[in-house]
Amino acid sequence: MFRRRRWAIQLKTPDQIVKMRAAGLVVAEVHRTVREAAAPGVSTAELDRIAEDVIRGAGAVPSFKGYDIGSGPYPASICSSLNDQVVHAIPSKEAVLAEGDLLSVDVGAVLDGWHGDAAITIEVGEVRPELTALREACEASMWAGIRAAATVRRLGGISNAIERSVESSGEYGIVTGFGGHGIGTEMHQDPHVLNYGDPNTGPKLRTGMCLAIEPMITLGDPDTAELDDGWTIVTDDGSIAAHTEHSIAICEDGVWVLTAPDGGVGMLGELTASAARAELLAVS
Ligand code: MF3
Ligand code: CO
Repeated sequence: MFRRRRWAIQLKTPDQIVKMRAAGLVVAEVHRTVREAAAPGVSTAELDRIAEDVIRGAGAVPSFKGYDIGSGPYPASICSSLNDQVVHAIPSKEAVLAEGDLLSVDVGAVLDGWHGDAAITIEVGEVRPELTALREACEASMWAGIRAAATVRRLGGISNAIERSVESSGEYGIVTGFGGHGIGTEMHQDPHVLNYGDPNTGPKLRTGMCLAIEPMITLGDPDTAELDDGWTIVTDDGSIAAHTEHSIAICEDGVWVLTAPDGGVGMLGELTASAARAELLAVS
């Protein structure tokens, strides 16, 4: 009864992390393609088609398609969340991008049984400066969390680093209803990764843990609501939201950002796993 919560955390071998890297690179390629295609006049349904083509063209399978958390199977390969939509918005022909929109694109792919999951927030054309600041604050907090994964002892240290980064960027709401997660042979595994919290809590970080780090922040309050479609999450107060996500692996000698084209080397430097640096040297 007084035993502390035991997480069932899947630890990956170096060989398995290499497989997760392959899945992560598929996700990275989807983001590169979708970012290029996202422009005023383009619908999110078109972006979804492009994403699915890239995933299947790489021999992978879109992990979101058919995913069921109780509201029926998710019908698309990406989540395309516009403006006050925070996460899980379903692509649609009617959702046509306009100049000034802030669009979060979340992508998952499974390759050879291993998952990659990442999200980027895209500025459509020119956006208001406070939306750029919101996007940058979200990205900075994700990287603060990723950096913490290489340096802190417990999972709560990642959560705390995300929270402190958001707070240092300005007056933003940190969405509390959703967070990051373990990832591996399933898209969603233990542990749940809060985007705020006490650094001295949670399971100890260990070599072989793979996590999706995904802060969601708003220009207003942190509260969210679900639309009648059973998926789309919007801010309660109608404020604009941003969402950024990478899948990472905690390796023996650093972190490998599996869904970043450079493996995280550019942002993490010496904190990057040697496997990531070796890969970058091999391809450049
Ligand atoms: N990437 C999202 C997450 O991390 C999952 C999207 S939900 C889905 O939670 F149903 F679309 F798959
Ligand atoms: Co995720």
